Amino acid sequence: MTNEKNHILEIRNLSKVFDVNTEKEKDVLKDVSLTVDRNEFLCMLGPSGCGKTTLLRCIAGFESYEGSVLVNGAERTKPGTDRIMVFQDFNQLFPWKTVEKNIQYPLKLQGIRDKDELKQRTQEVLAKVKLSGHEKYYPYQLSGGMKQRVAIAKALALKPEIILMDEPFAALDAMTRNELQDELLRISMEEQCTFLFITHNIQETIVLGTRIIVLAEGGRIVVDEKNTVARPVTPASEGYGETWERLHSALYQ
Ligand SMILES: Nc1ncnc2c1ncn2[C@@H]1O[C@H](COP(=O)(O)OP(=O)(O)OP(=O)(O)O)[C@@H](O)[C@H]1O
Ligand SMILES: [Mg+2]
Repeated sequence: MTNEKNHILEIRNLSKVFDVNTEKEKDVLKDVSLTVDRNEFLCMLGPSGCGKTTLLRCIAGFESYEGSVLVNGAERTKPGTDRIMVFQDFNQLFPWKTVEKNIQYPLKLQGIRDKDELKQRTQEVLAKVKLSGHEKYYPYQLSGGMKQRVAIAKALALKPEIILMDEPFAALDAMTRNELQDELLRISMEEQCTFLFITHNIQETIVLGTRIIVLAEGGRIVVDEKNTVARPVTPASEGYGETWERLHSALYQ
């Protein structure tokens, strides 16, 4: 059983309306409540437009909303390095900066000026994503998969409590996607970090998630379950087929 101390993130009655008082007014999230435990890897599935990205952006502090978002019991309304977002887009790195400068830029904004510390943190996180030796590369010299590795390294360098990932592997080919799933799984088991991970890929949720939720319109949570399929997960794993079927029918109901 969990207790309150284990809760890293608490979303209380969160509602989001876009374009208030205009003809485009839209209720995107309606009274969403969700509690996430420390070190949980929470995967989120849901049909296009149900508000997954909006929910993550609210948690990240990029949107205004009604209700509250608490990290370690304290309300958060603005972006902070305790919650870092990783996107689908390969272009989330500055194209004019090298890999190391991309990683170090937010660290410098954090006030870290010591060259040795910056170098050490960069090397540490690049090793974690298996990109040691690529410090001086520019983004255009990297594959899509490598760019996503750098984006993950950049997030890890900030030592966030929560990493918010919005379909980070959606634009990758199937083989690279599998590789990055394996890497992220390893990283998530090594790091003291909580992950919220959006995907449209059911397989991905079963491979990565310790918990899986399915959202419907308005951000309504229609499935919320612990992932009981033993790691490492393959389609032949016990319980895989049943879990896949259950999530699939919730998603397409
Ligand atoms: N900045 C915005 N202004 C107005 N409406 C918005 C804005 N951002 C999102 N929306 C609307 O909110 C709804 C939910 O969008 P959101 O991007 O959160 O969906 P999603 O679940 O992430 O979808 P997808 O799976 O396609 O990424 C959509 O109807 C979208 O049009
Ligand atoms: Mg989205």
